Amino acid sequence: MLVLIGNTKGGVGKSVETIQIAAARALQGRNVLVADGDRQGTSSKAIGVRMSAEIAPSIACVHFTKGTEYHTQIRHQAKLYDDVIMDCGGHDSQTLRYALGLADVVVVPYQPRPFDTWALEQLSELIDEVQAARLDAGRPPLRVICHLNSADPGINSQDNIDAEKVLVHFPQLTFVKSALVRRKAFPLSAAQGMCVFETMPAGDKSCDELKRLLKHIFQGE
Ligand SMILES: Nc1ncnc2c1ncn2[C@@H]1O[C@H](COP(=O)(O)OP(=O)(O)O)[C@@H](O)[C@H]1O
Ligand SMILES: [Mg+2]
Repeated sequence: MLVLIGNTKGGVGKSVETIQIAAARALQGRNVLVADGDRQGTSSKAIGVRMSAEIAPSIACVHFTKGTEYHTQIRHQAKLYDDVIMDCGGHDSQTLRYALGLADVVVVPYQPRPFDTWALEQLSELIDEVQAARLDAGRPPLRVICHLNSADPGINSQDNIDAEKVLVHFPQLTFVKSALVRRKAFPLSAAQGMCVFETMPAGDKSCDELKRLLKHIFQGE
């Protein structure tokens, strides 16, 4: 499956989620490629840490920042992998647009804070454009999963509830109740190129949250 972790906003947790999802799928025995399209190269650095430490299973990684190059390479390389997890920069770029064209599903993380919810307007307009282009090209619509990352702990957090309500205005962004709460375990494991299943005890809340998110994305595949 081609999964894009995408948002036109930076700092929402795209790279942390890219590594969490890629490592979790690799652990399930999938042949995984991380396709980094962000000039910052955070995801490719993290996969580099995993490779240097020779952590198994290994995860392949490529880093292309030029839109046309990203598109050509990923379109061809995707055939060699079970899953491609794409991470693009947090702004409207050619790379992001190509990735939206290639993806089966886009996972949109956002934080339960005003700047993040404001930014969803720009993203929803971009998704509309992409869906129209896919329709014209006879391609299936892009599946969109929008969820909270760095959510406040506690199911009754008012900020989480308010951030969810904002999505009523953006029907093209399907909200799923599958938050990753703000926990050190996510960025600390990701910085080693690992997911929480590899660094935390099985019953940890971070593991339950990641498991739930994976179910929404891959739907049993
Ligand atoms: N669930 C989380 N819990 C705690 N910190 C997080 C979580 N997700 C992301 N972060 C932190 O938030 C910041 C932005 O995350 P990052 O993945 O780099 O965002 P992006 O790739 O969207 O710019 C980083 O400092 C990262 O460590
Ligand atoms: Mg990033």
